[in-house]
Amino acid sequence: MKINSALPAALAAILVVAALRAQTPERPLPRLVEKDGRYALLVDGAPYLALAAQVRNSSAWPSIFQKLWPTLEYMNVNTVEVPVYWNQFEPQPRQYDCTLVDMLLSEARQHNVRLVPLWFATWKNGSQHFMPDWMKLDPGRYSHALDKTGQAVDSPSPFATASLEADKSAFAAFMGHLKEADPQRTVIMVQVENEPGNWGSVRDFSEAAQKAFEAPVPPEILKAMRAGAAAPAPTWQEAFGPDADEYFNAWSVARYVGQVAAAGKAVYPLPMYANAALRNPLRKGSPGQPGAPDNYESGGPTDNVLDIWKAAAPALDVLAPDNYQTDPAAYLKVFELYHRRDNPLYVPETGRPYNARFFFSALGHQAIGFSPSGGNTEGEFKPTEVSKAREDFLNPWAMNYRLIGPIQREIARLNFEGRLQAVAEEQGKFTQSLPFGSWNAVVSYGSSGRAPAAGNPSPTGRALVAQLDDNQFLVTGYYCRVDFRPAGTEKQRKSGKIVEGTGQTPSALIDGQWQHRQFLRVEEGTYENGAFKYSRIWNGDETDWGLKFADEPVVLRVLLATY
Ligand code: DGJ
Repeated sequence: MKINSALPAALAAILVVAALRAQTPERPLPRLVEKDGRYALLVDGAPYLALAAQVRNSSAWPSIFQKLWPTLEYMNVNTVEVPVYWNQFEPQPRQYDCTLVDMLLSEARQHNVRLVPLWFATWKNGSQHFMPDWMKLDPGRYSHALDKTGQAVDSPSPFATASLEADKSAFAAFMGHLKEADPQRTVIMVQVENEPGNWGSVRDFSEAAQKAFEAPVPPEILKAMRAGAAAPAPTWQEAFGPDADEYFNAWSVARYVGQVAAAGKAVYPLPMYANAALRNPLRKGSPGQPGAPDNYESGGPTDNVLDIWKAAAPALDVLAPDNYQTDPAAYLKVFELYHRRDNPLYVPETGRPYNARFFFSALGHQAIGFSPSGGNTEGEFKPTEVSKAREDFLNPWAMNYRLIGPIQREIARLNFEGRLQAVAEEQGKFTQSLPFGSWNAVVSYGSSGRAPAAGNPSPTGRALVAQLDDNQFLVTGYYCRVDFRPAGTEKQRKSGKIVEGTGQTPSALIDGQWQHRQFLRVEEGTYENGAFKYSRIWNGDETDWGLKFADEPVVLRVLLATY
């Protein structure tokens, strides 16, 4: 469908949408809720875990999307991240083409998945490559950022007000169309821009930018960065010294993206996030210094400027890491830094199958969603039949969703209630203990139960434990063994006098009494309409050495007692 305010055809099309809308029951608006620093994404009014994948995004319209379903179905996704391109959406000023959006909506509904559109507009990986041609051909008006030497770089200026106004209008039109065309709430969240920032320069040195750089730092930024200052109303340089350029750029870009988000939210208030091209959180790095060994994109929501983004772009609900870290320690550090009291963890992009186990670590950080992406992964999510080679590539991700998909609503609810812990195997760490009040869940990797845990041949283990009741737990995972050890009362735990037993059955000496774990009931099953339905009971060999999980999707409900 095309919207052009002048043409009667548009009127007819709008009437069609209105008629369709009248027939379609309206679902509750997807929204983010927070309680005690924990978040849930409510879809159809209940907590929802986005088990997503991002489709290859460089040039996909309109046809490729339809061919991707074999791969997406093999992945067991319930959500698909897919780009909407500004240059396709607004080929002529104020003429909005919704054909791609409508195709995405109908395809997603046919395949019973939800959508997270990625608004590729002013920024895509730091550059303006998805801006409409009529803007690219008018760089005077829709200006680029300038580097220190006054050279234009391949990045839009956050001070180009004409670009900002155009992006706000186009995004508002896009959100307006969703509001009209999607009462089913197929779209549950929207990404505003893509990895905004600047790879080619630490900041914009254009005249408008320089003027703002020499002006006092906005008080809300000083407050957010807890920056005391020698002078009242300090300039960026006075307040932040060597970090001034980068912090200024983060403010400039965040303010811009925040205004675009606000313009869209004013029309249709779906949850919105911005995604970050990360720096390595364990190293300082060099922002916007092309050629520097650890150059990273300057101005995006990297971990060191999240406070600036939160203050400068309040319309954004989430700042989300594109986690491609290859070093496991850095990969996990990212989750720690982005999971904040004011920021739920959403992972819009990640890659490399050896990181697939860390989906469980993300759940351990109460992630509201997770999405391996087609961008940076050897196999990419191409529209081909799922060949053997592809299975090997896709399976590490697909097996996570195969397991969690059927129970994702419960997982999202239990995480929101703070009852869930989840972990993944780390090199050289053979056991992990998860405290649940009077019980510790003990996860071990590469253990037969009889011999001490020695880790899996390669670190593939992952486990999830959720407390359903004082002595009842939901347990699942892959390539691990889970058992439970009595942990005493809070007072007894605080005494620090508890001695852990070393026998086959986990036990503890608490106040001079040995307490041993016993399984009262271990049920294999799943959830149907919110109720646990068990298919069989585990006992004997299957429980004598704890609960073993291999490569098949198994969910257990476990009732414990002590003797
Ligand atoms: C991160 C970007 O967000 C993606 O769109 C893609 O370009 C990958 N990088 C790399 O392929």
